[in-house]
Amino acid sequence: MQSKDKQQSDEDPEASQRRYVMSYTPIIFRDKLSRFKDQWSPKVIAELNDYQFKLAKLEGEFVWHAHQETDEAFIVLEGSLDIQFRDGLVTLKSGEMYVVPKGVEHKPVAIEECKILLVEPKGVVNTGTAGGARTAKNDVWV
Ligand code: NI
Repeated sequence: MQSKDKQQSDEDPEASQRRYVMSYTPIIFRDKLSRFKDQWSPKVIAELNDYQFKLAKLEGEFVWHAHQETDEAFIVLEGSLDIQFRDGLVTLKSGEMYVVPKGVEHKPVAIEECKILLVEPKGVVNTGTAGGARTAKNDVWV
């Protein structure tokens, strides 16, 4: 069996790459969160097809923005987060989530630092179409 396995991986480079990348350890939010301090700067912790899971620390007010191409999921791990809309407000606490529909203007606000998990497609710009100084670098892993 061993030689057959080897032959298969030689013939299927993608399969051998998958084996190389795969590790049998969980991704632990608190460990990943301890690896960075900067706020409003999402860090990738995993990918799922063409989506990414990103951790972020938020405190204060962000800028009004919208993502024209995608919905955006906010999952609060610690603390409390307000997501302001032009005509309403959603307050999320630890263990709660909300999906902002694509194209809808929103402004995250956290009175004290909160820790969140974002789920969105690769390449989504944190400031959406607003751009500006608060735009974070993408694809930064922790
Ligand atoms: Ni957004």
